[in-house]
Amino acid sequence: MASYSFLGVTVSFIFIITYAFANDTLHFPKDFLLGTATASYQIEGAWNESGKGESIWDEYTHNRPNFIRDHSTGDVACDSYHKYKEDVQLLSNLKVDFYRFSISWPRVLPTGYANVINREGINYYKNLINELLAKGIEPFVTLYHWDHPEIFEKMGGWTNEMMVEWISDYARVIFKELGPKVKYFITINEAAVFCDEGYGRNDKAPGKNLGSTGKYLCMHNALKAHAKIYHIYDEEFRKPGDKIGIDAACSGAIAKHLNDTTAIDLHFQFHCGWAVHPIFSKTGDYPEVMKTHIAENSRLDGYPRSLLPKFSPTWVNYIKGTSDFFALNHYTSVRVETVPREEGQRWYQFSGVKESLDPSWPGSASSWLKVVPQGFREIINKIAKEYDNPPLYIMENGFSDECCTSDHSRISYLHSYIKAMLLAIYEDGCNVKGYTIWSFLDNFEWLAGYTERFGLVYVNFTDSQRTRTPKLSFNWYKHIIETRKLTSTFDSPTVINVA
Ligand code: GAL
Repeated sequence: MASYSFLGVTVSFIFIITYAFANDTLHFPKDFLLGTATASYQIEGAWNESGKGESIWDEYTHNRPNFIRDHSTGDVACDSYHKYKEDVQLLSNLKVDFYRFSISWPRVLPTGYANVINREGINYYKNLINELLAKGIEPFVTLYHWDHPEIFEKMGGWTNEMMVEWISDYARVIFKELGPKVKYFITINEAAVFCDEGYGRNDKAPGKNLGSTGKYLCMHNALKAHAKIYHIYDEEFRKPGDKIGIDAACSGAIAKHLNDTTAIDLHFQFHCGWAVHPIFSKTGDYPEVMKTHIAENSRLDGYPRSLLPKFSPTWVNYIKGTSDFFALNHYTSVRVETVPREEGQRWYQFSGVKESLDPSWPGSASSWLKVVPQGFREIINKIAKEYDNPPLYIMENGFSDECCTSDHSRISYLHSYIKAMLLAIYEDGCNVKGYTIWSFLDNFEWLAGYTERFGLVYVNFTDSQRTRTPKLSFNWYKHIIETRKLTSTFDSPTVINVA
């Protein structure tokens, strides 16, 4: 409130500022959803209990321990299969609006196929959902977070087009069994990541190392699978108000050289657009620049056809528009610059863009994760601009450290990223509807094993009870959720005081 004295009359002005830093505070929009997330292989454990079948991550961790930094597995992980009630109680203490978790396909269909439904597996998820709903927490269910039945990998996994049918059969079982109590579904998590790292390279299971051909083929089938699952839901299961969408990982890009906007756009189209342009753009299909670059490079490299597979017009139309929202996972940014093609090299994965990290960016426990909040605001704007401002749910955002519950660096990261997101909403008009912290619990961080911790809750992995202790960031986020606002400066709590 401001007061002016004029001719002896005091006039008070109340400035109603709906969003901006009134008193240094940004408020979340009305109906904005705040939550946290996990994935089945990373937390459940019970890898061979109660009738569960073998998954590609079971196979990978058991047979290639040397590829996991601490030689660990997800056999027990956080033991959430047994401790889900304690987990939901913690989520309830945190006061989240929703909890994003994923279903283990081989836990519900041990043969992989929909011929045998494992009732114990289904009941685990039914119990989890009932427990969440009883505490007023909305389940946000991911069907596929990187972990399919090993039997399908033996037949080529995502390089086999039959995956489209197999995963659709699985999705139908889940929709029938769990759909009545679930409003939000995500079909596939980060196809670009598992296609590149699991099929193109050996940085994730199944570690196929097939180069560009494998990664492009994987995405091609994953997009078809996503669209088919969407149509099944739409035609057979959708209840009023339900939402189903796909999740994409899009990192930010900061131009290394002033005004190199070409580098930013190329980076976006090759990393993010690859997975989402076929769904969210008006034209459908892969980004034009990707099609032309890869065709030209394939020709120069002596291939008889482009390494990027082609969709028929029927598939282009079938895939286009199959998402009710854009689910974005975002952690960090890279510095980008355009570079000319040089003899004997793949022209930086065909894009013509070279990536690097700015040494001045603060780091985390993960070599790839640098703190660049402006990149978050920019990628939100880029998605809004490219795809007509779709409803956007941030489905993962978070920071890794190596230990401990006094996680001030995590709070600082989250504060700066949430602020960047709120500015994208209020100052840039982006349509962001929800925000999710990765992760609720410290968990099995893929090839980093248990050496990188992302949780709001500390898990003691050397204790057979897998004891959970909320970190300072848990308290901090709880306060944000309760007050629905972010102050411009943050006071990192010093006391762990959780009910
Ligand atoms: C994401 C992935 C999560 C988690 C996170 C942190 O790409 O979906 O499962 O591991 O990265 O690295």
